[in-house]
Amino acid sequence: MKTPVEGFSKLSKTQKIDWIATNCTKDPKAAKQLLEQYWNTDPRVQKLHDEFIENTISNYYLPFAIAPNFMINGEFYAIPMAIEESSVVAAASNAAKFWMERGGFKAEIIGTEKVGQVHFIFKGDKGKLSEFFASVKPELLQSVASIAQNMEKRGGGINNIELRDLNDKIEGYHQLHCTFETLDAMGANFINSCLEQFAKTLKEQALAFDGFSEEEKNIEVVMSILSNYVPNCLVKAEVSCPISELGNADMPAKEFAQKFVQAVNIAKVEPYRAVTHNKGIMNGIDAVVLATGNDFRAVEAGVHAYAAKDGQYSSLTHAKIENDIFKFWIEIPLALGTVGGLTSLHPLVKLALEILQNPTAKELMQIVAVAGLAQNFAAVRSLVTTGIQKGHMKMHLLNMLNQLGATEEEKQKLVHYFKDQTVTNASVKEALDKVKAE
Ligand code: MEV
Repeated sequence: MKTPVEGFSKLSKTQKIDWIATNCTKDPKAAKQLLEQYWNTDPRVQKLHDEFIENTISNYYLPFAIAPNFMINGEFYAIPMAIEESSVVAAASNAAKFWMERGGFKAEIIGTEKVGQVHFIFKGDKGKLSEFFASVKPELLQSVASIAQNMEKRGGGINNIELRDLNDKIEGYHQLHCTFETLDAMGANFINSCLEQFAKTLKEQALAFDGFSEEEKNIEVVMSILSNYVPNCLVKAEVSCPISELGNADMPAKEFAQKFVQAVNIAKVEPYRAVTHNKGIMNGIDAVVLATGNDFRAVEAGVHAYAAKDGQYSSLTHAKIENDIFKFWIEIPLALGTVGGLTSLHPLVKLALEILQNPTAKELMQIVAVAGLAQNFAAVRSLVTTGIQKGHMKMHLLNMLNQLGATEEEKQKLVHYFKDQTVTNASVKEALDKVKAE
C-alpha cells in the first residue's frame, strides 16, 4: 500500500472493496470475487452482518459444530461450538460420552456479581472524603434510578458502591468500586451507563459539598468503566468416579488416575505448563462463548487474571484421588449473557441458544464451564497416555489433504488408509503421491 486513505468509512461498500482490492492485493479481480463469494445470498441477512461493525466488506466464516451428549446436572445438552481448530469438537464429544457413562457433569453457580469502577483523583483530606461519600451515596444511587429501573424490576441492579483509597499506589487515587447484579445480561452497557452517571453526580455533589475546601471540591474523574475481572461471578463444574472406572485401552485405571492428577499438579505449579493447560480449557470455553454470541475477549481476560489471583499463573482445573474416588473440577469466573448484545441479532447465535434450550445466564455459565472441563479432560488424557499428536494429526488429516490439493476420491482413500497409520506431514505427502501415481 503506497498511500493512506481519507474518509474510508464514508465510501460505499463497493467503493471500499474496490479501494482495498486495488491498493492492497496482487489480483484485485480475484480479491473482489472472493469477498463477494463470502456474502450471504439473502441481502437482508448480509445487511444485518454488515451493520454489526464498521467498514464491513465481507464475512469471515468459522465452522459451527455440535458436541453432543453432555449430561449436566442430569439434563442432556448438545453443545454448539464455533472454532477453527481441528480435534477440539471431537475431543469434547469423546469426553462428554465418557462422563455420560459415569454420572455426567455436575455444575453449580458460586456467584453472579459484576464489577465496575469510577477511577478518580482527590488529593485533599481523607476524612472529609469519607464523610462526603457517606452523605452522597444515596444521591449516587438515586441518580441512576431511571437507568436501573428495568433491571431492578427483574430483580437485579446495583448491589453496592464502596469508596476505595489507593493512595499507596498513585498519589490521590481513589475509586468508587461498584458491584452489580445483571441477571441474564452480560451487563456491560448497563454497568457503564451507571458508572458514567455516578461519576457525573460525584463531581456535581463535590462542587456543592460545604465540607470541602475550594481545591477539594474539584474531584478529577479519570475514567468510569466496568471491570472484566469478575472473581465473584464464579461457576464450578466437576466430574468424579471410582478409579476402577477409569481404565482404558492405553493404560491401567490406577496408573491413569495417578498420572492425570500429577499432570494437573504440574500445571498448578509451573506457569509454562499452566498456560498451555489453560489454553486447552479455553479451546472449549471460547468455542461455546463465541457460538452463543458472547464476548470471548472479556472472558479470556477475566479467566487468565483469575488463574493468576494467588500471585502466580496456575491451572484453572484441579484433580485429586480420595478414597479411591477420582475427582476433577474447574472453578472459573464467567460474565456471560443470554439476552442483549448479539444474542437476539445474529441468526446463528439465536439458533445456538435455542439448541441449548434457551438457557439463563447462570445455565450458560454452567454449560461453558463444563465445555472447558471436558476439553481439559480430553487433552490431559491424551497427553498422559498416547501423546497428543496421534489423535490430533488424525483429525488434522483432512486439512493436510486439502492443502496438498487432494481430490475427493483421493481423500476418501487416504482417510481409510490412515485409520491404522501414523499421520505426519511426510507420511501424508508420500501416501498422496502414491495414490496419484496409481
Ligand atoms: C491444543 O490446542 C491444546 C493442548 O495443547 C492443551 C494441553 O496441552 O493441555 C493440547
